Amino acid sequence: MQFRLAQEQDIAAWMALVKQVRDVFPGLETDEAMAEHKATVLRFIQNDSAICAVHEGRVLGALLFSKENNALCFLAVDPACRRQHIAQKLVALMLARMETDKDITVTTYREGGPNGIAARAFYKRLGFSEGGLTEEFGCPVQEFVLKKQTAGQR
Ligand SMILES: CC(C)(COP(=O)(O)OP(=O)(O)OC[C@H]1O[C@@H](n2cnc3c(N)ncnc32)[C@H](O)[C@@H]1OP(=O)(O)O)[C@@H](O)C(=O)NCCC(=O)NCCS
Repeated sequence: MQFRLAQEQDIAAWMALVKQVRDVFPGLETDEAMAEHKATVLRFIQNDSAICAVHEGRVLGALLFSKENNALCFLAVDPACRRQHIAQKLVALMLARMETDKDITVTTYREGGPNGIAARAFYKRLGFSEGGLTEEFGCPVQEFVLKKQTAGQR
């Protein structure tokens, strides 16, 4: 498996993964929303801010991040390939490209729902701590923060 920055020619395989997981992401419900998301992914790719795990032409893991906001913006792994440390490796690549002297944030599902179990356990395992409760696309979410001290110890 290859872990690398995504390129424009990866977009079809990237979106095939997004289609598989769209049910657990608020804001990807309609075809219009998916088209908008595709345009967003292309912008991240052009900005060297999209990382993927690729095997035999398929994107099995995908991560978008913002250097400007020091934020992890999107993360998903193919349901058939979970618990193989794919997401962990994607985050490690992201961290190597981020400022280490600032907190890094991500918003994810709040406690209680079935969708949040893997993501919340994952972020805690990587050293993120629970932050404020907010909303995204009308859905209740929670911020998780990787504190700069932790980042400095990497
Ligand atoms: C969250 C997600 C990205 C994790 O991807 P993954 O490749 O399976 O995660 P990893 O294998 O790198 O997990 C690393 C560690 O996180 C923890 N973890 C991951 N998934 C877990 C789960 N379902 N339950 C408990 N702990 C979990 C474990 O400690 C794991 O290490 P271990 O397997 O050695 O015990 C994946 O489940 C996913 O795509 N979920 C749907 C989309 C989503 O929730 N995205 C994030 C929302 S912002």
